[in-house]
Amino acid sequence: MAQHTSHAQHERSAWSGKLAFILAGAASAVGLGNLWRFPTLAAKYGGGMFILTYFILAFTFGISLLLLETALGRRTKQSVIGAYSTFNKKWKFVGILATAVPFIITPYYCIIGGWVTKYLVSYVAEGADAVAAEGFFGGFITDPIFTYVFMVIFMLLCIGVCALGVKNGIEKANMVMMPLLLVMAVGISIFVLMQPGALEGAAYYLVPDFSKFSPDLVINALGQMFYSLSLAMGIMVTYGSYLDKKENLSESVASIAGFDLVVSFLAGLMIVPAAFMALGLGEGGTMAAGPSLMFVTLPTVFDGMGGAAQIIGIVFFVLVLFAAATSAISLIEACTSIIQDGTHWSRGKSLFAFSVFLIAAGAFINAGYNVLIWIEPLGPGTQLLDFFDFLSNSVMMPIVALLTCIFVGWIIKPKEIINEVRVSSKFKLAGPWTVMIKYIAPVLVIAILVANVLPMIFPA
Ligand code: PHE
Repeated sequence: MAQHTSHAQHERSAWSGKLAFILAGAASAVGLGNLWRFPTLAAKYGGGMFILTYFILAFTFGISLLLLETALGRRTKQSVIGAYSTFNKKWKFVGILATAVPFIITPYYCIIGGWVTKYLVSYVAEGADAVAAEGFFGGFITDPIFTYVFMVIFMLLCIGVCALGVKNGIEKANMVMMPLLLVMAVGISIFVLMQPGALEGAAYYLVPDFSKFSPDLVINALGQMFYSLSLAMGIMVTYGSYLDKKENLSESVASIAGFDLVVSFLAGLMIVPAAFMALGLGEGGTMAAGPSLMFVTLPTVFDGMGGAAQIIGIVFFVLVLFAAATSAISLIEACTSIIQDGTHWSRGKSLFAFSVFLIAAGAFINAGYNVLIWIEPLGPGTQLLDFFDFLSNSVMMPIVALLTCIFVGWIIKPKEIINEVRVSSKFKLAGPWTVMIKYIAPVLVIAILVANVLPMIFPA
């Protein structure tokens, strides 16, 4: 498994330290999933009940897998394909499968990044009324040219950060964006909670409704956790490979999961009461989910806040932009690193090659909302983006996670990973961790996969 680094250009990138690694992991984790999926799920599944379940899962199952992936990366000093084949050539295919996930996600993630960029620009240039106007969102996403332009702007921004390198680009960007994101989330939460009627919404979000506990809740919490922690797609393997042996892995992954949870929690505090005020959830209204929550409901709520509307809209979309950009950067970095390890091209050339792919693939998926809108891959009203989202998150990620657990638990044996973690920490929980990886995690992952795929095969 010797890595030849005779050419300076092939030298592996490295984090400057533990803080940079934690922030990078958190930056990848905190994204659109925290902002629009977590609050929606929490509102649907009994508020505090969902939050509690999510918390327990994230700090058992979630950090176990985070630890596995980062330790695998650090042990092999390779991105995901090399990391698997280092131990066993026959298992290289899992690396390839894992690689496919960020290659699929990045283009469509950047399309949504483009929408966020457009909203920010519109809040600044046109004001809150214009953004909240009827048909604003629909009008925008069906415009092939404008959506494409904003997607490319967003992509170039993220590619630019990656082009500056791991230390000078990604680390510095995270160092600015992540703390600011946290401050903005706290600020907006406080502001929203001061609005009339908001406290009732906050209670709806926080007070556990135990009657809502169900297998469905657990499956949704698990799926959300996976996506949110950026698991099973090679990102954390790559990020682990940039980490020095002296840094404590087990503490770092706990911090990453903690950061992610705090932002999800705050997102709910901003969004659930806001949506509550708009729709009167207490009277049985249903909260909009996903894009329409973020791009239609919230602008309407902000618009009702009078003079503060424009400011709050701007701050909110800067926050969303930071969350989306830092995640997209981690995706681009993981793909670049995979290309670099596979081809032995320089980092710059690998990044350029990926950028060409990204802009082309993005154009195709983006067309799914306009010129190719007649393609409805998952049934009436669905678009190409929904299909790729389903393929990567609901099908491929659980499969990769399952194979990863089998690979580490049963093929290379947990000892390999435990030894790697122990290079820099005591890892007293190695026993429970082994049980998790060998037995519990595979069962949970199969449950997610079945729950995701069955409804597609047998629609209700
Ligand atoms: N974790 C990110 C989120 O919650 C999504 C993401 C997926 C980021 C894949 C990177 C890679 O939105």
